[in-house]
Amino acid sequence: MNLLEYIEFRNTSFEYIKDKKVINSISTKVYKDDITAIVGPNGSGKTTLGKLMTGILKPTFGKVYMFNKDIKYMTLGQVGKQVGYLFQNPEKQFFSCTVEEEIGFVLKIKGFDREYIDKKVEYLLELFQLDHLKEAFPLKLSQGEKQRLAIAAILANEPEYLILDEPTKGLDMDRKTTLVNILEKLNEKGIGITLISHDYNLVNQISNRVIEIYRGEIVEDRRNKD
Ligand SMILES: Nc1ncnc2c1ncn2[C@@H]1O[C@H](COP(=O)(O)OP(=O)(O)OP(=O)(O)O)[C@@H](O)[C@H]1O
Ligand SMILES: [Mg+2]
Repeated sequence: MNLLEYIEFRNTSFEYIKDKKVINSISTKVYKDDITAIVGPNGSGKTTLGKLMTGILKPTFGKVYMFNKDIKYMTLGQVGKQVGYLFQNPEKQFFSCTVEEEIGFVLKIKGFDREYIDKKVEYLLELFQLDHLKEAFPLKLSQGEKQRLAIAAILANEPEYLILDEPTKGLDMDRKTTLVNILEKLNEKGIGITLISHDYNLVNQISNRVIEIYRGEIVEDRRNKD
C-alpha cells in the first residue's frame, strides 16, 4: 500500500517556555488515508501536537513538513486552504451573529454566489441537526450544539485534511454516533483525519492508527486491524 504523507515530524520539539520541552523530539509520519488518533493524559502535549500539524505553532527544534513542504515557510492562509482544525474550545472562534452566518462565512469570503452558499449551509444545518437553530446566536448554544456548529463551519470550507481536538466533548450518544458516521464517510471520500481524544470508545471505533503520547513523547504507536 502506498500511503500519502500528510505530515512528517522530524526530531520535532516544542517549548512554550525556554528549556521546558512540551513536545520532545518526536519523529513520525501521519498519512492522509488514515484516521489517526492521538491519545494520552491531560497535559501530555496532544493539543500542542495538533497545533504543530496546522502551523499555528512552529517547532522550536526540528522540522515539520506538510505535504513535503517545510511548514516554517507556509502561512496560516496556505495551510488553512487544505486543513480544517477544530479547536479544543471552539466557541472561542465564533464571531458571527447567527448559526447560519457562522457556517457560510468562509464561503462568502471566498466569493461563492448566494445560491451555492445557501444550499451548502442548509445541507450542513440538516446534517448536524442545527436547522431549528439557524437564526440563533452561536454563543448562546448548548455545548453540544456549539461543537456541532464548529464542525459544520469547518466542513463548509471542504478541507482535504481534518484535525479535531476533542470533537465529541459535550455530545450525547446519538450525536456521537452521527458524528462517527459523518467522519467515516468523509474518510471514505479521501479526507484524512487526526482525532485528538480521551474518548477510548470513539478512538477504538473509528481510528485505524493510535498514537499515544506521554510527557511529549510517543510511547505507543499501533495500527488497528481494518
Ligand atoms: N500557552 C502555553 N504556555 C505555557 N505552557 C503551555 C501553554 N499551552 C500549554 N502549555 C503546557 O504544555 C503542556 C501540554 O499542553 P497541551 O495543551 O498540549 O496538553 P493536552 O495533552 O492537550 O492536555 P488536555 O488533555 O488537558 O487537553 C502542559 O503542561 C501545558 O500546561
Ligand atoms: Mg488538549
